[in-house]
Amino acid sequence: MGDTILITGGAGFVGRHVARTLLDRGHRVRALDGLIAQVHPRGERPADLDPEVELLEGDIRDAAAVRRALAGVDKVVHLAAEVGVGQSMYAVDRYTSVNDYGTAVLFQQLIDQPVRRVVVASSMSIYGEGLYRTVDGELRQDVVRGRRNADGSWDPLDASGRPMIPAPTPETKAPTLKSVYAINKYVQELLTLTLTAQYGMEGVALRLWNIYGPGQALSNPYTGVLAIFASRIANGHPPMVFEDGRQRRDFVHVADVARAFALALEEPMATGEAFNIGSGEDRSVEQVARLQAASMGRSDLEPLITQQARAGDIRHNIPDLTKARTLLGYAPQQDFSDGLAELAEWVASQESEDRVVEARNELEMRGLVL
Ligand code: UD1
Repeated sequence: MGDTILITGGAGFVGRHVARTLLDRGHRVRALDGLIAQVHPRGERPADLDPEVELLEGDIRDAAAVRRALAGVDKVVHLAAEVGVGQSMYAVDRYTSVNDYGTAVLFQQLIDQPVRRVVVASSMSIYGEGLYRTVDGELRQDVVRGRRNADGSWDPLDASGRPMIPAPTPETKAPTLKSVYAINKYVQELLTLTLTAQYGMEGVALRLWNIYGPGQALSNPYTGVLAIFASRIANGHPPMVFEDGRQRRDFVHVADVARAFALALEEPMATGEAFNIGSGEDRSVEQVARLQAASMGRSDLEPLITQQARAGDIRHNIPDLTKARTLLGYAPQQDFSDGLAELAEWVASQESEDRVVEARNELEMRGLVL
């Protein structure tokens, strides 16, 4: 028989996909979710949350709600969090409260009602800049992003002023916490790995790269870049690309992420470990903007390159997936162009409001655009 698994934040984009994957594997799924307005504008059960998921509405900081949600549970997937890197730089109290205090409340309850395993969603953001290679082939772990270069370029430079090249980042790279969100996520990871070990539970952290796929919160201007671009393009506006658009990321399909969670819940070797989870392919943000406009039949919408950066943003970060492949048996399966086509089809069936300019003004007003 399967387990009973609690997903905190289980009504969100990632949670709904994880829930479906776990149900398919014969588990029972309960979700605890605050249905916050920025993500769930109508404040109701999302239509694409599988009907078999038992949804409890409640805040992760509410001890009584967490206690009820933990009753009879074997394992926990902890996803409940505020997720915008840019927004975290001004909504400091809200982010830290939900993300870190929320995790503390969860563990306070877990001490009395332990489960077998807790898998927490960490983030590549904790690395700060990823690993870099100089043109001479020397690997650099300690790159810190400074201001824009004097010649207007954006890539970090080596001691001789030559741009460095991003290299796949392994889990051994020391965290460099450059945003409130990154600080929050690292604390979540540490609380999970420390307290599970202390109290006889198993803990696993997944350091997730940029997740995309059907079900992303389209009208949330603080959501991931592909959902933001999709909603811009669907409303006939060009994607707004920060910096020079050459910053590189790894965009991973939510179905691959859901499989990673299923493996992290089951694999005995995963205990006490943190794993990078991505697609294994990196792309520039501008390239993705163009591919996405094409996939939505709007190649005419040329990306608008702003030459401005968001405070707290990382320049380049791409994952080394060796550890996840070896210890978790993780193997990304989704093809990126198929994923974009699927996203385009889903976006066409949705109403989305483009609130990006509004969100950008919020950052600008607070001096968070550089
Ligand atoms: C995202 C996630 C974060 C997750 C992290 C892991 C969201 C809101 N954030 O952060 O939770 O932990 O990935 O990788 O999902 N950009 C533009 N134009 C825009 C918006 C963004 O050019 O309109 C650029 C950004 O400057 C950045 C890149 O796109 O260079 C990615 O931004 P974003 O999708 O917000 O992701 P992260 O900040 O990496």
